[in-house]
Amino acid sequence: LATLASGRSGTGLIRGGALAIVDGRIAFVGREEDLPSRFQADEEIDLAGRLVTPGLIDCHTHLVFGGDRSNEFEARLAGADYEAIAKAGGGIQSTVRATRAETEESLVASAAKRLNSFICEGVTTIEIKSGYGLDYETELRMLRAARRLGQIYPIDIVTTLLAAHTVPGDQERATYLNLVTEKIIPRAVEDGLADAIDGFCDSIGFSSEELQRVFRRARELALPVKVHADQLSDAGGAELAAQFSALSADHLEKTGAAGVAALARAGTVAVLLPGAYFDLREKHLPPIEQMRTMGVRIAIATDCNPGSSPLVSILTAMRMAAVQFSLSVDEVLAGVTREAARALGRHAETGALEVGKSANLAIWNVERPVELVYWMGSNPLFSRVWRGKKTSLTGSIDWGWRASNAP
Ligand code: NIG
Ligand code: FE
Repeated sequence: LATLASGRSGTGLIRGGALAIVDGRIAFVGREEDLPSRFQADEEIDLAGRLVTPGLIDCHTHLVFGGDRSNEFEARLAGADYEAIAKAGGGIQSTVRATRAETEESLVASAAKRLNSFICEGVTTIEIKSGYGLDYETELRMLRAARRLGQIYPIDIVTTLLAAHTVPGDQERATYLNLVTEKIIPRAVEDGLADAIDGFCDSIGFSSEELQRVFRRARELALPVKVHADQLSDAGGAELAAQFSALSADHLEKTGAAGVAALARAGTVAVLLPGAYFDLREKHLPPIEQMRTMGVRIAIATDCNPGSSPLVSILTAMRMAAVQFSLSVDEVLAGVTREAARALGRHAETGALEVGKSANLAIWNVERPVELVYWMGSNPLFSRVWRGKKTSLTGSIDWGWRASNAP
């Protein structure tokens, strides 16, 4: 058992372990010979030496969206620049156009295909952001689609309102910011659609000053904050996150020393997104050594989105984080379990094999944690348990073709 329990070193490995589940919760974790006899189970499964980890957690995705951006990917391969594409009305704006044209049902259908990839890789909790609607109706529709996915599929979905992703092409900055703070955020809260509020603090998003307003509103309505911080430039995103005691600051490629210190003081989790780093051929590494020295907690996520990170594999993100960011296997494992749970404010509930937590497990056909990071493009998942129930990994989602998926 790689317990990832806090207070244990490394992955908190227990050899010859046993785990008992009662009513969907972990009731015992320890060595098999220490298993109390009262846990003589109704059902006992011998895993024959396989590795068990907490169910994986992807704490940063944009899983719900319309269309795709494969055309822009081709343009980027031919030398076009991500930021320049965005400034010319492509990028996020092009996904906004495609997303506004979708119904809640069609958003659910296209996201379900991507969600299936995560479920098949042992993910039991996933965060989904809005941010491709950028108007009242579509932002709420995206969140409803995300909530709906959580009602249909065996996975916990945490939703984040990212109306402050960028200014929509058809609006003034000030008018749009007003709409966000006065209408979209209050309505999302009223309808219980958002678990957190996010904002993109960068050259193609919003300034730190602009986001102060958005986050003050979030605070007034008692919602926690997350920040897309300092991806393309050091825009003060990490300091902003710290100021609002954000659950997480994400990206952080261009964050300076002051930003890291602020995150450390605030206890905000740094979420690293190796897929976006890879796809944008970023050269500037996030300040990982400073994060370690200052004791900033590090999580890893896919940032699954149609533009900068069309990545539907948490195992690949783990691999990329290890190689590109020189994270250890222990750091990588913690980054997609215990620390990812903390980045979502769900660490009391999931992210480690500890008594009382939800019985979310990934069971792997490997002997040692390193093997989950070592292989590229193989999926050694043996079985997955969500809220104490074994989930069938095949067949429940139709991967059928829809011609309207084309952009
Ligand atoms: O996390 N950084 C901002 N937003 C998303 C991707 C935006 C897009 O290109 O669609 C991200 O990388
Ligand atoms: Fe993102």
